[in-house]
Amino acid sequence: MKILVVGSGGREHAIAWKLTQSPDAEKIYCAPGNAGIADVAECVPIKAEDIDGIADFCVEKGIDMAVIGPEVPLSMGITDALNAKGIRVFGPDKSCARLEGSKAFTKSFLMRHNIPTAGYKEYTDAESLRKDIGIFGFPMVIKADGLAAGKGVVLAEDAEAAETAIKEMMEDKVFGSAGNLVIVEECLTGIEASMLCFVDGKTIVPMESAQDYKRIFDGDKGPNTGGMGSYSPSLIFNEELEQEIREKILDPTINGFIEDGLDFHGVLFIGLMIGEEGPKVIEFNNRFGDPETQSVLMRLDTDLLKIFDACIDGTLDQIDIQWSDRRAVCVVLASGGYPGSYEKGKVITGLEDVDEDIVVFHAGTAFRDGKIVTSGGRVLGVTAIADTNDEARAKAFANVEKIHFEGAQFRRDVGSINTH
Ligand code: AMP
Ligand code: GLY
Repeated sequence: MKILVVGSGGREHAIAWKLTQSPDAEKIYCAPGNAGIADVAECVPIKAEDIDGIADFCVEKGIDMAVIGPEVPLSMGITDALNAKGIRVFGPDKSCARLEGSKAFTKSFLMRHNIPTAGYKEYTDAESLRKDIGIFGFPMVIKADGLAAGKGVVLAEDAEAAETAIKEMMEDKVFGSAGNLVIVEECLTGIEASMLCFVDGKTIVPMESAQDYKRIFDGDKGPNTGGMGSYSPSLIFNEELEQEIREKILDPTINGFIEDGLDFHGVLFIGLMIGEEGPKVIEFNNRFGDPETQSVLMRLDTDLLKIFDACIDGTLDQIDIQWSDRRAVCVVLASGGYPGSYEKGKVITGLEDVDEDIVVFHAGTAFRDGKIVTSGGRVLGVTAIADTNDEARAKAFANVEKIHFEGAQFRRDVGSINTH
């Protein structure tokens, strides 16, 4: 089978890396990929949002399956466009992609199907929102409805911070049209966890749990990032919690999809808050999480390509997905200054010194003059697997120390429970 992976981050590196282990993967391409993905796939210089370019490439090369990593092309309808050309796609269509593309769409879905989530209210003009500042108390959770590269959520500590967020989102339009509709939510407390699920239109199968580290500094301090690390499985998961999530969230979600005519084939990423009232949904995403995928796929024993096929064909109930009991930890090395402005083009050294069983997923790297250099905010995901969580952490950090580039920063608490 000839496969095209669309995207250029650590998540896409992990997907392409795992696919190389499949006996049926004859050739793997990645558009556009990065310097690390080039080890496991042939990178082609087509942007993930260039849907026409990707469609032409698929037809020209006879691609059998396209796997879409990021949310933006999914929301733009890449699946529908490729399906129209007869190409099989792992990733939901445009209609289902609204589950990530519009927070209001997802909130009304969750409410309609009685799935536990924070209470909320919608606003289309800044004045009515101003009158409601503090409506659910503080911190006030304010979200731009549309895609905003993970930056469209503000937890305002007081009225002044809420006013700034309202002005930026609704008047200055810092997130563009994503701020035309804004939602305000009750603030949930507890421990966050990510549950990525395979979905084939009628069956939903959760992967092993994981946790992301959203903020830049240890102790979950500082501004939000794309994710500074992950570990799997989450230390707070047990059978009882999994059963509760199955009954209160997974079953009503898949039944809701069927009832609402949402024919979802791909990964549904469920962001959860596990608090005193049990698990609640924070958000849905319509794709693998980054960097959760890096630690979760390290533990997958089943052929990923077979799972993708089953998700597309609606035969997920016929495969038994196996996971390793081992623990995985992924520590992200980021550029100095990130998530604010940062310089690119720093030479990365020490990649060849890491232990044999460590996988370094590349998130933002490029080749320059025969060297590997930084080319993004998040640069590498140093990923270790071991029998215990502590061992996996120790291995990951020992190998992080072997890799160098000017200004590199990372969180030292990745792999421990992240509370809010
Ligand atoms: P999102 O982009 O929706 O994942 O939100 C980004 C982050 O904001 C989440 O990972 C949570 O840490 C936080 N967050 C979002 N909604 C809520 C909420 N209702 N209560 C508390 N924290 C939230
Ligand atoms: N790790 C969070 C995300 O992929 O959105």
